[in-house]
Amino acid sequence: EPGLATYDPGFVNTASCRSAVTYIDGDAGILEYRGYPIEQLAEHSTFLEVAYLLLNGELPTAAELEQWTHDITYHTFLHENVKQLIEGFRYDAHPMGMLMASVSALSTFYPDAREIHDADNRKLQIARLIAKMPTLGAFAYRHQLGKPYVYPDNRLSYTENFLAMLFKMSEPSYQADPRLVKALDILLILHADHEQNCSTNAVRSVGSSEVDPYSAVGAGIGALFGPLHGGANEAVLAMLRRIGTTDNIPGFIEGVKAGKEKLMGFGHRVYKNYDPRAKIIKKAADDVFAVTGVNPLLEIALELEKIALEDEYFVKRKLYPNVDFYSGLIYEALQFPPEMFTVLFAIGRTPGWLAQWSELVQDKEQKIARPKQIYTGHRTREFTPISER
Ligand code: SDX
Repeated sequence: EPGLATYDPGFVNTASCRSAVTYIDGDAGILEYRGYPIEQLAEHSTFLEVAYLLLNGELPTAAELEQWTHDITYHTFLHENVKQLIEGFRYDAHPMGMLMASVSALSTFYPDAREIHDADNRKLQIARLIAKMPTLGAFAYRHQLGKPYVYPDNRLSYTENFLAMLFKMSEPSYQADPRLVKALDILLILHADHEQNCSTNAVRSVGSSEVDPYSAVGAGIGALFGPLHGGANEAVLAMLRRIGTTDNIPGFIEGVKAGKEKLMGFGHRVYKNYDPRAKIIKKAADDVFAVTGVNPLLEIALELEKIALEDEYFVKRKLYPNVDFYSGLIYEALQFPPEMFTVLFAIGRTPGWLAQWSELVQDKEQKIARPKQIYTGHRTREFTPISER
């Protein structure tokens, strides 16, 4: 338009930060946490051990892992006023909205968290938040159902404790099938970090103002809630349900190609190859379904993937299944309702958000976030009196 500033449409994203936490090669489909391939961590490690690796840069010794597990275990309880905060939400409040609000509210319970340049304080707040995320997620879920809260049981492992707080009723002690606990632990590992994705960028951007980590992670949860990001896992199940049968897939695919909607769980800003996490999740799904029985929507997902990977529209655009395409099928088999899927993503991503936040705080050259803009508005012009408008 006349008068509007002109700009180079070839604008490309410039690097937002430097980091040593996670490496991705999108063309080769490589994902490494602190140099360790995700495939090896998923097979040999545990979520708490991976959280330690992301935060400290090295795998822990046995003694370090024991201390780390102790620190996490004894921070799982919430202040009773946080429970009352959750009580204040409507019965149908989305758990991600409750999680975002309650995590940010923790900044008011731990004002010392603002001492972000004190290393011991950072360590304490990081352990506190990783420990409390499952409790917050479980309390939000129980609030939705109108069920009494199940308090943390510090005799259980991190992932078992989470399942117990979600699903335990009147049985004296909650017994989760170890194969399901392992599958959930692998899913948490796969979600633990992913370089400068939308929500991590939000955590870093908010964190660069030197606010406390609870407020920064609260912003990350808000970003993750979106259907183009972490909210995609919930959207995939809704999409599969809407397709209903494999007979409807060709019509659905034509709708996607006509631009009517996106194939949720497909595509990625970085991976222009198969998301390595999706491959691992597909295998974990087989292990879960061996225990729970096959999710009937799996057949539609497998056929959808097969057809899409042979279709020029998707091949030309290098669209492959991402981490969200199969994860929801497992979560549903583990008895999680769809609105809890992104809460699971947030619990898994918390160590990554905090590792990136801690790295940012310690990077002396990192300045407050102030992204460049391309000005496309009017240049200088004279004020027009209202009588002349
Ligand atoms: C996550 O960044 C991360 O690392 C994120 C994440 C993490 O661990 O933090 O990996 C987690 O968020 C995974 C993504 C989950 N979201 C979805 O599954 C939603 C569906 N996917 C799309 O919305 C999309 O693929 C994005 C948002 C993931 C990526 O968007 P981009 O970067 O804009 O996609 P693109 O530029 O590569 O698109 C190229 C073309 C475009 O078409 P044309 O304009 O060239 O005609 O492909 C089209 C897009 O419209 N396209 C799709 C599509 N994704 C891209 N068409 C149909 N279905 C899709 N899913």
